[in-house]
Amino acid sequence: MAKICILGGGFIGRFYASSLHGQRGRDRVTVVYARREETASRFAKDYDVPHFSTNMEESVAHPETEVVVIALPNNLHEEAVMLCVKHKKAVLCTKPLGRNAEEALRMTKACEEAGVFGGYLEDLCYTPKFLKSLTSVKAGQIGRILWAKSRETHPGPHSDWFWDKNMAGGGAILDLGCHCIEIARNFIGKDVKPVEVMCWADTQVKPIDAEDHAIGLVKYENGAIGQFEVSWTFRGGMDLRDEVMGTEGTIWINSFLRTGFEMFSTGKGDGNYIAEKAESTSGWLFPVGDETHELGYTNMFTDMFNAIEEGRSPQESFYDGYVVNAVIDAAYKSAKTKLWEPVVLPEWRGQTGLTKPSVFEEYDADHWFIKDEILPNGDIKVIVKKKESGEIVELVKLNV
Ligand SMILES: NC(=O)c1ccc[n+]([C@@H]2O[C@H](COP(=O)([O-])OP(=O)(O)OC[C@H]3O[C@@H](n4cnc5c(N)ncnc54)[C@H](O)[C@@H]3O)[C@@H](O)[C@H]2O)c1
Repeated sequence: MAKICILGGGFIGRFYASSLHGQRGRDRVTVVYARREETASRFAKDYDVPHFSTNMEESVAHPETEVVVIALPNNLHEEAVMLCVKHKKAVLCTKPLGRNAEEALRMTKACEEAGVFGGYLEDLCYTPKFLKSLTSVKAGQIGRILWAKSRETHPGPHSDWFWDKNMAGGGAILDLGCHCIEIARNFIGKDVKPVEVMCWADTQVKPIDAEDHAIGLVKYENGAIGQFEVSWTFRGGMDLRDEVMGTEGTIWINSFLRTGFEMFSTGKGDGNYIAEKAESTSGWLFPVGDETHELGYTNMFTDMFNAIEEGRSPQESFYDGYVVNAVIDAAYKSAKTKLWEPVVLPEWRGQTGLTKPSVFEEYDADHWFIKDEILPNGDIKVIVKKKESGEIVELVKLNV
C-alpha cells in the first residue's frame, strides 16, 4: 500500500482520488492539500482522507506522505516538485509538466539528481483503447508509422486560472496539445526525435490573451508526421480522437464522445452529470461508462505505483513531459513566425541521425511495385515503375 498526498483539491485531484480509491484499490490518499480550507476539508470528507491542510510544504513533509500527486494549476507545478525533491518524496505530476521546456527540464533534472521518482501523469496514454493500439503498433501490425493525428477539443476549461495566460502558461495548445503530442509521439516512437513544428493558432471566440484553437504538425527525424488539433471553442462535449496511419494498416480511436453508448432523456430526473464537458443534459446524450477507467487514470496509477515498487521508470516519466513541453514551445514560436520552427532539446536521450527509410518494394527483377487494384469488372491492374528507365506503367491481368 502506498500512502499518497494529493496537492490540489479541484477537478483532477478528485478524479485521481476516485481512481486511487476505486474498486478494491490498496493505495490510499492519506493527506490532501488545497488552497482553501473548505476545499481541503470537503475533499477529506468525500474521500475519507485522515489529514488535510492549507500548507503545501507541511503536506509534502507529512509523515503519512510517501508519494505526492500534484494536481495544482500549472504555475505551481515546479514549486511543488521542488518541495518533493527537498523532502525526498516520490512525485507524480499532472500534465503539462511545465509551462515551458525550461521549467520541465529543471524539474526532471532536480528529481533525477536527488534520486526522486518522477512520474508524468499523462492519462490519455493509458486509456484502454490507446494501450491496445500501442501494442498493435509495437507488434508491427500497422507497419511503419507515417502519420499520427490526435484531437482534443471541448468547450473550454472549468476554472479561472486556465484562462489566465500567466498562470496557465498558454492556452489550448499547452492544455490539450500536451496530450495529443504525447499520443502521437508514442505511436511514432518515443526514441524518434521530434525535429520541427509548424503551427496555426488563433483566438477565435474567447476574450483571452491565449489561443483558443490551434492545429499543428510535428515533423519527426524518421520522416513521420504528428498532428495535433485542439480547441477550447468546440461545441458538443469533449472530442477525443486519434488516427494512426502506417504502411500496413490504420487505427481510428474515438475515446469519449461517441463510444457506442447513446441515451435520450427529456432532462427529467435527478443527477444530471453525463460526462466531462458534456454540454447538455437532455436530448440525445453520450455518457461514458466508467470515466476514470476510460480516461486512463486507473491504468496510469497502476503503472506508476508498480514502477515505484519495482524501481523502474514508468511508461510516462518527467523526461517525457519535458520533451512534450519542448514541442509545445516550438509550436508557440511557429504560430508567431508562421515558419517551421526547430524543437529545442538540450537533453535528448533517443536515437539521432535517423533518415527516412527506403520505400521501394520489388515487383520483379525489372520493376518496382507501386500498387495493385481489383477493378469492378474483376480485372487486376498492377502499377509498376521500370527500374532502368524510371517509366511508370500498368500491367493488366484480364478477368476473362
Ligand atoms: N486529463 C488530465 O490529466 C487533466 C485534466 C484536468 C486538469 N489537469 C491538470 O491538473 C492541474 C489542476 O487542474 P484542475 O482542473 O484540477 O484545476 P482546479 O481549478 O479544478 O483545481 C485546482 C486546485 O488547486 C488548488 N490551488 C492551490 N493554489 C491555487 C491557486 N493559486 N489557484 C487555484 N487553485 C489553487 C486548489 O485546491 C484547487 O482546487 C492542471 O495542471 C491541469 O492542467 C489534468
